[in-house]
Amino acid sequence: MKTLLINIHQLLQIREPEVSFVAGGEMRDLPLIQNAWLLIDKDQIADFGPMETAPLNATKNIIDCTDRVVMPTYCDSHTHIVYAGERVDEFVQRLEGKSYQEIAALGGGILNSAARLDKTSEKQLYEQAAQRLELCAYQGTGALEIKSGYGLNLEAELKMLRVAKRLSEKYPVAIKTTFLGAHALPELYKNQKDEYVQQICKEMIPEVAAQKLADYIDVFCEEGYFDLEDTEKILSAGARFGLKGKIHVNQFNAIGGVALGVAMEVLSVDHLEELIEEDLIALENSQTMPVALPGCSLFLDIPFTPARAIIDRGLPLALATDFNPGSAPSGNMNLVVSLACMRMKMTPAEALNAATINGAYAMGLEATHGSITKGKKASLIITDPLKDFSHLPYDFGQNHIDQVILNGRLL
Ligand code: NIG
Ligand code: FE
Repeated sequence: MKTLLINIHQLLQIREPEVSFVAGGEMRDLPLIQNAWLLIDKDQIADFGPMETAPLNATKNIIDCTDRVVMPTYCDSHTHIVYAGERVDEFVQRLEGKSYQEIAALGGGILNSAARLDKTSEKQLYEQAAQRLELCAYQGTGALEIKSGYGLNLEAELKMLRVAKRLSEKYPVAIKTTFLGAHALPELYKNQKDEYVQQICKEMIPEVAAQKLADYIDVFCEEGYFDLEDTEKILSAGARFGLKGKIHVNQFNAIGGVALGVAMEVLSVDHLEELIEEDLIALENSQTMPVALPGCSLFLDIPFTPARAIIDRGLPLALATDFNPGSAPSGNMNLVVSLACMRMKMTPAEALNAATINGAYAMGLEATHGSITKGKKASLIITDPLKDFSHLPYDFGQNHIDQVILNGRLL
């Protein structure tokens, strides 16, 4: 089936197929056509151009986009949407004065989610995650990555990853999965970190790989969690089984995880709220995408990733939600884009590049998602009537998404 979008006020993010991400000064440019058309054939973008050239007889199935912006759906390259229940009690504890780290040290945090996951059936877990995924899709996300990491033992980690796999089979949202066994030390291994790292490398990674449940491997490389040595061991073990790295680094402390990640050719280094000169030097001339998670900074009241230092250095940057129960219980990429502008001094064009093409690259989906390119998936956002795309971040807290098309079909 074909669908023709006509009279598009601004058709955003038009890229040649060879563009896999944009960096530095290029991020200020968001190529667009004013008054455009776009033809969808089955699940793909067949063609597009200025209205004078519209193939009006191509199909009877026409959507009039007068005054509306049309853009690729958001690419959210870092989420933890498969989790059980929530942690609203910890939110209240933080408001009463406890820190995120204090709550974690008292058995809350990731271990709290692991305990809840343990008591939740796979069916319930799927239903809860599916609800979150639908919410993300209606908010304009057409591709996202999902991490495990609330299981912390082989069976429970596999359970999380099976749920993520089933979501990817059931929904038209493109999904990549990441094994994050090294998210925290489970209760059982409290004083035996080396043994747990061994178990991850020797038992969990081989099994996750054998069952083809993950595309990537992640480690929470942070003081009090997993150090550089652990991270290196786990990334190496992952690499032996074909799992590329995508790691949590520099959320609270800069301990050298960025340089290690780059040296081990990870696809992305995520968080970066604490960034030092050595980290920036390491990222130069690498293929590793820095990823900022401003929803986490807002929710935990920690510094925002210094986007200007990254982009002005000529580096790329992607934006993601980090959707999880403890540090960012929101999957709204519209808010992430607004926060990037308001708190990280990114321009609307930079933020939208970061939330689309660069996000796609950060999860290996740049060949099919993240831009308006012939042959890519027809996963598109049609906004409310807007004077200009800058209204997306400007009208913060509002969702200007009128319709979402995923793989050529209206949601
Ligand atoms: O990305 N930093 C580690 N992991 C998650 C939060 C996990 C949690 O609190 O449940 C994050 O912020
Ligand atoms: Fe995270």
